[in-house]
Amino acid sequence: SFEQNLRPQNLKQYIGQDKVKENLEIFIQAAKLRQETLDHVLLYGPPGLGKTTLAAIIANEMGVNIRTTAGPAIERPGDLAAILTALEPGDVLFIDEIHRLPRTIEEVLYPAMEDFCLDIVIGKGPSARSVRLDLPPFTLVGATTRAGSLSAPLRDRFGVLSRLEYYNETQLTDIVIRTAEVLDTEIDNLAAVEIARRSRGTPRIANRLLRRVRDFAQVRGNGIVDEQLAKEALELLQVDRLGLDHIDHKLLRGIIEKFRGGPVGLETISATIGEEAHTIEDVYEPYLLQIGFLQRTPRGRIVTDLVYRHFQMEVPKTE
Ligand code: ADE
Repeated sequence: SFEQNLRPQNLKQYIGQDKVKENLEIFIQAAKLRQETLDHVLLYGPPGLGKTTLAAIIANEMGVNIRTTAGPAIERPGDLAAILTALEPGDVLFIDEIHRLPRTIEEVLYPAMEDFCLDIVIGKGPSARSVRLDLPPFTLVGATTRAGSLSAPLRDRFGVLSRLEYYNETQLTDIVIRTAEVLDTEIDNLAAVEIARRSRGTPRIANRLLRRVRDFAQVRGNGIVDEQLAKEALELLQVDRLGLDHIDHKLLRGIIEKFRGGPVGLETISATIGEEAHTIEDVYEPYLLQIGFLQRTPRGRIVTDLVYRHFQMEVPKTE
């Protein structure tokens, strides 16, 4: 689809994550030289950094097909068996949100990953017996926002563990310029920098902001995205100078106004601002921790002085 074409198709087009890329390049080349399947790969890190894109690139670079599913979509062992037995030799099986795979399914996955076989129980009660089915060799690419939530036996069965990091401003600027080219949109370098700065280190956010700024340019301007127009559009989108949106604001102001800056537990924050604890933990907190706006303590979350300064509030004196 068009949306797919926005994404880089190979490692050469993929911007950033240099360490991950360099390693994958070697492992892919080595597997191809030996005419073997690539070892199983676990990609982990915050959402929007390109895990799905990398999975597709791995399949593309290996010259195989990709089958995509997600942890919560696989409910019974039969669901996984159906997917595994339909694979062609060498295929990539991509399991997104692999930490949400039920434990009973994980156990089906172990022999599949290790020996490319499937143990199926036929029948019930005393006459039940186990049959071993051979599978085509395949590469499992798992993606998760929380490597810590994977069980140790599952984590240990991945040969390649790659952590994706937040992108810096230069990399995000390059991504915005690349996406603008694919979208056939004219953009100034300074406008791209402005979008990059407000993207929370995250390409998915950068590309989303670019599309909204481009709408603005088309309707309010002449279709060209320059710095002034980008700033106005981003203002209208309620994305602040650091890229924080109204949920980040609600979260930070909530801790300041209701809990005197913390410490406060995740569940309590969640109930107070009406956002799911999982969403706060997986989507909002990682970046706020990264830029030093939040700290995790054994007694809960606290906001730092940087937050008061960002909101131009008086920094409270420590007691
Ligand atoms: N679009 C989204 N993420 C990208 C990346 N890492 N490199 C190039 N284009 C992208």
